[in-house]
Amino acid sequence: MNVAVIGLGAISPLHINAIQSAGGKIVAVCDIDPAKFEKARKATGFTCSIYSNYKQMLDSEDLDVVHICTPHYLHAEMICACLDRNINVLCEKPVAINEIQLNLIELSVVRTKAQLAVCQQNRFNASVRYLKELFKDQEIVAASGNLCWQRDAAYYNSAEWRGTHLQEGGGVMINQALHTLDLLQWFCGMPETVIAHNSNDTLQGIIDVEESQLGIFKLKNGGRFIITATNACTHSFPITLMFKSAETEAVLIGDHMIVNGKFVTKSDGLPLFGKEEWGVGHVNLVREYYACLREGRKFPIDFYEAEKVVELILALYASQGEEVPIGEREPVGRQKVLAR
Ligand SMILES: NC(=O)c1ccc[n+]([C@@H]2O[C@H](COP(=O)([O-])OP(=O)(O)OC[C@H]3O[C@@H](n4cnc5c(N)ncnc54)[C@H](O)[C@@H]3O)[C@@H](O)[C@H]2O)c1
Repeated sequence: MNVAVIGLGAISPLHINAIQSAGGKIVAVCDIDPAKFEKARKATGFTCSIYSNYKQMLDSEDLDVVHICTPHYLHAEMICACLDRNINVLCEKPVAINEIQLNLIELSVVRTKAQLAVCQQNRFNASVRYLKELFKDQEIVAASGNLCWQRDAAYYNSAEWRGTHLQEGGGVMINQALHTLDLLQWFCGMPETVIAHNSNDTLQGIIDVEESQLGIFKLKNGGRFIITATNACTHSFPITLMFKSAETEAVLIGDHMIVNGKFVTKSDGLPLFGKEEWGVGHVNLVREYYACLREGRKFPIDFYEAEKVVELILALYASQGEEVPIGEREPVGRQKVLAR
């Protein structure tokens, strides 16, 4: 499998490691910042080609898969460029930051022979899989996700796109808490409405997006799931997720799982899902994606699956305290969209 990586910033080492552990060969990397090349080339054994123009790379190399690890606003155009050349693509989350980008991506998705996968890797954590299996035949009637992290001025000043409406597309919700919302949706299903509030109290003058977000989602069965997320804390705590069905109440705090009041542990009393289970999501996801490509299977987190969390985030941002419906985007196949 010949692989290329676009964007060699903070997340790229996880992709390079995951590609190598999944048996991929990194033949090219691309970044507009030449300072990023050396580290990436070292990690790949100094064998790959380097590019500063990603389209030139797509046209020059014989690629099976491209990994997109660039700022949010660039995902849509880079996905389309790959799919329009029938090159498989794994894009970092979020798949897009607005409806126009979703429509453009879908146009490419319906035409291409390649597969788009999106990196919502927490679905591949062992603890999450355990819970998914536990709730397989149970109807969830209440759920909650909480993210309480530290993201200060130094973090937001580390790259120009961070904390900007135009380039990040939002704040804590579309970046840090996207995975938490994705898991709530994956377990509970698409909700009907949301009432949401957001604020920026500690990062005024530093970011022009939300630092904190509350969302109250109404489920089709009358239940609710709630998300609370903030980057205003002075420490990053483990994420908590809680799910309730008629039979089961499950709580996941970082690695620690409590089901119906009892810690889920190994026979020696240690947590079932130790530290080694966290941070391996990228490896698990990339291995499964490559297996799907090799075996001609469909990867589960495709465009249509990944757009769900984007739709929920756009509804959160639109709410401003009002109850808003979670609308379904009309597929482009049924729209009069001008061909590009
Ligand atoms: N899945 C996760 O858990 C997770 C964690 C962290 C980041 N991410 C995602 O990864 C993506 C990148 O985040 P990051 O923290 O690595 O950002 P970053 O700013 O550290 O890195 C982005 C890189 O992209 C490069 N770049 C910008 N424009 C480019 C272009 N036109 N062509 C080629 N390269 C270009 C930049 O020079 C930079 O090196 C984001 O979508 C982010 O949400 C995901």
